[in-house]
Amino acid sequence: MSNSFFLKGDICWSASPHSLHTIEGGFLLCKDGKSGGVFSEVPKAYEAVPVKDFSGKLIIPGLTDLHIHAPQFAFRALGMDMELLEWLNTHTFPEETKYRDLDYARKAYGLFVDDIKKGPNTRLCVYATIHVPATLLLMDMLEESGLVSFVGKVNMDRNSPDSLREDDSAAATRQWLESFSKGRGGGRGPYKNTAAILTPRFTPSCTDGLMKSLAEIQKKGGLPLQSHLSENLKEIEWVKELCPASENYGAAYADLGLMDGPTIMAHCVWSDKKEMELLAEKNVYIAHCPQSNTNLSSGIAPIRRFMERGIPVGLGSDVAGGSNTSIFRAVSDAIAVSKLRQVLVAPDEKALTLEEAFYLGTAGGGAFFGKLSGTDFGAAGSFDEGWDFDALVIDEGNLADTVGRSIRERLERAVYLSDDRHIAGKYVRGVPL
Ligand code: GUN
Ligand code: FE
Repeated sequence: MSNSFFLKGDICWSASPHSLHTIEGGFLLCKDGKSGGVFSEVPKAYEAVPVKDFSGKLIIPGLTDLHIHAPQFAFRALGMDMELLEWLNTHTFPEETKYRDLDYARKAYGLFVDDIKKGPNTRLCVYATIHVPATLLLMDMLEESGLVSFVGKVNMDRNSPDSLREDDSAAATRQWLESFSKGRGGGRGPYKNTAAILTPRFTPSCTDGLMKSLAEIQKKGGLPLQSHLSENLKEIEWVKELCPASENYGAAYADLGLMDGPTIMAHCVWSDKKEMELLAEKNVYIAHCPQSNTNLSSGIAPIRRFMERGIPVGLGSDVAGGSNTSIFRAVSDAIAVSKLRQVLVAPDEKALTLEEAFYLGTAGGGAFFGKLSGTDFGAAGSFDEGWDFDALVIDEGNLADTVGRSIRERLERAVYLSDDRHIAGKYVRGVPL
């Protein structure tokens, strides 16, 4: 059992979307990059397996960011007094244009990858830009980091500044996938932790012809797909004008064949009953991005309703709509905005509990990584046997308390108060970063 080890500490993970497992002084087994389960004592059969002792520290699953824009990292926290469409035109598009320059991309993506590596997220679904060379560079840098990611070259061929409007976005996408299939740096070895995801930016940026070509590319390659849906009221009005024949914004994607594979849709703030039915039928993963939805005046997504309908939900930072990369922040914001929604908008939609929001930030989003064709990724975010071994060791150090606390209370304080300095260990697929 050369690739096995135990982590010893105070272990906490989701037992269900609504409850936690907690074991004080427990032993978490890693076997060939997968969880072998959690034990209160080392079982006889595993006595020879080494134990890494983190006694007194909290051990939890790695967090998944289901929606982040890597090229927006460098301008976080600017334009946060604007709404979505004004912010895209003023800050986002001019910044993303810079990634046609590989030297700029190397510098800015370097800062991005360093930040994520130091933080609590172990998995991410990433938007790059329209630029093929810079997207491949980002994929190489993420692969190098040991993090697990889906990365998308962004598609844009209408309603975009000239500098970001592609002549043949589908052809560029095929070229990107072709280069990616040759391996890192165009042949330096296979990608193990990085995979491709189709990324039409959103309906206003993509012609029907482009969307149909992407659906064909998806069918051939079995690729997952990510986009934005029903984020902001002005955006939704615009989509109604652009797609008068579609029943709703979600249908504008589905009618063109873009919800037939594994799909993530970010936001879904304004999804109505019909759109929810479609999302449920297509098993679409929703990336809930509460900080972004607040910063860009988008609204408060009906997460309780999605959960009740069994629609899969994870959390996203949506940097730079969101300013913070840590999914701990998304967990606390998901709780906060759900309370405002209950008080101000929908009294019958109970606010999220800590257990529920923690689930969304771990197994909820991490489940998207399980059983996707073309990768050997497993699902992450749980310590149940067989899940990928993504784990964080949190040294609460100066969060220490005047009194002894339960593991659940310590988790809650870590979510709200910890930062990167409290991370004493980080493992992705069994590998320490
Ligand atoms: N919709 C289209 N593009 C974007 C983006 O970059 N960020 C957000 N939050 N929404 C978008
Ligand atoms: Fe986004």
